Amino acid sequence: MTSDRTAPARRFYIKTYGCQMNLRDSDSAAALLIEHGWTPADGEADADLVILNTCSVRDQAERKAVGKLGFLGKLKRERPWMIFGIMGCMAQNRGAELLKSIRHLDFVIGTGQIHRIPEVVDEVEENRVKRACLEHGSATDHGIDAHRFDGAESPHSAFVSIMRGCSRYCSYCIVPFVRGPEISRPMDSILAECRMLAEHGVPEIFLLGQNVSAYGLDNTAPPPDDAPSPFACLLRAIAEIDGVRRIRFTSPHPAYFTQALIDAFTQTEKVCKYVHLPLQSGSNRILKLMNRPYDTAKYLSIADRMKERCPEMSFSTDVIVGFPTETEADFQATRELMDRVGFDNAYIFKYSPRSGTRSAQTMPDDVPQEVKEERNQILLADLERRAGDANRKLIGRTFELLVEGPSKRNAARWSGRTDTFKQAVFTPDPENPVESGDFVRVKIVRATPTTLYGKLVADEA
Ligand code: SAH
Ligand code: SF4
Ligand code: F3S
Repeated sequence: MTSDRTAPARRFYIKTYGCQMNLRDSDSAAALLIEHGWTPADGEADADLVILNTCSVRDQAERKAVGKLGFLGKLKRERPWMIFGIMGCMAQNRGAELLKSIRHLDFVIGTGQIHRIPEVVDEVEENRVKRACLEHGSATDHGIDAHRFDGAESPHSAFVSIMRGCSRYCSYCIVPFVRGPEISRPMDSILAECRMLAEHGVPEIFLLGQNVSAYGLDNTAPPPDDAPSPFACLLRAIAEIDGVRRIRFTSPHPAYFTQALIDAFTQTEKVCKYVHLPLQSGSNRILKLMNRPYDTAKYLSIADRMKERCPEMSFSTDVIVGFPTETEADFQATRELMDRVGFDNAYIFKYSPRSGTRSAQTMPDDVPQEVKEERNQILLADLERRAGDANRKLIGRTFELLVEGPSKRNAARWSGRTDTFKQAVFTPDPENPVESGDFVRVKIVRATPTTLYGKLVADEA
């Protein structure tokens, strides 16, 4: 049964592709729509407004969203009053062209114009016109700090954007073109947002930016290792807020990871002992071609200094396989470096040329698809072995978990994260029910490469 156009509640659904920045932007958009009288729908089929928040980072990400847009056309034939929009990186990149070529697409919102979504939707609804807002925005635009508390996906943890855009221009990457130049938000505004979240009982703050270690250094070249770090000051200031218990961030860039940041990281207890530090390649020749201004010695020196201060520190990374001209020797160098750092989590991507980027313009995509696939599989197998070994070593140890919610596989069990971002499941005590956002202590009794299994232990405090 379909509802008719006169139904009282206007319901929206946002489908998100891509990275955490997009998840955060979807949440801001949802909060703004709710503020303007919209109600969340469970899916696109019972929504009056559907927005796809899109990603352009690899060809596959764009293809998924374009396929979904086609499917939405069918829905519009059944429910002609529906409004469809796209936001995010593909909207920024190809929005104008898609708006023209896809009849049922009503609006496109660029990455800096999220605050205008309610106004644009109203206009489309009233006048049945197509609208495009694609100007790059400023870091203080209304909307960047909008949060929803009822129905938030992770009530125990909140993303906070500390900067927009990226000015690094890694040769393979489309992000600087679709997100605009780096603009850091003022520290006061970030701190106010973190305080507000803590007052709403959110214990974990997850700071977001494409290059968080360059926070406050917008558009400057990498600093020397002994330079002061505005990001380190931000971490220390957030740690002072009562109610904030854990601080995480993603992603720092190795070239901006100075000693001051290592100090803040390792000396500030609330900053979780887990770092996602994108490596991209373990070959210095490839790093140069990628326009990543660090070498493997610099990367290792950061990892070693962190481990020296904090032996339990856990590392994850991003790696691209099959970058133009990558040889077997380059690939083996990546494998060795990953082993040496001991990553037990990593996101491995097959190189995908993106139109307009330097590598796509100047370097042939010359590593065959089968070789990319094989290298991808080898790194995944390495990872599984390392993660299994690392997790087995944790059996018998006790950890504090931030409780996330019932486990997806078995609702009788609950799941949480250690400080080092490892997923652990446990069976709650029926006498003392737990909630998302609680902290519990568990002793690890079993481990797989992806999950720890723990038993609740009584709090000694
Ligand atoms: N700002 C983050 C990365 C954002 S994009 C950083 O620099 O750390 C996330 C990851 O996608 C990148 O780290 C990179 O590994 C991968 N990526 C980006 N462009 C790509 C491309 N053209 N092909 C394959 N992977 C890509
Ligand atoms: Fe892309 Fe490089 Fe910027 Fe990361 S730092 S978003 S990889 S250009
Ligand atoms: Fe994709 Fe844009 Fe994030 S291109 S990875 S959604 S910044």
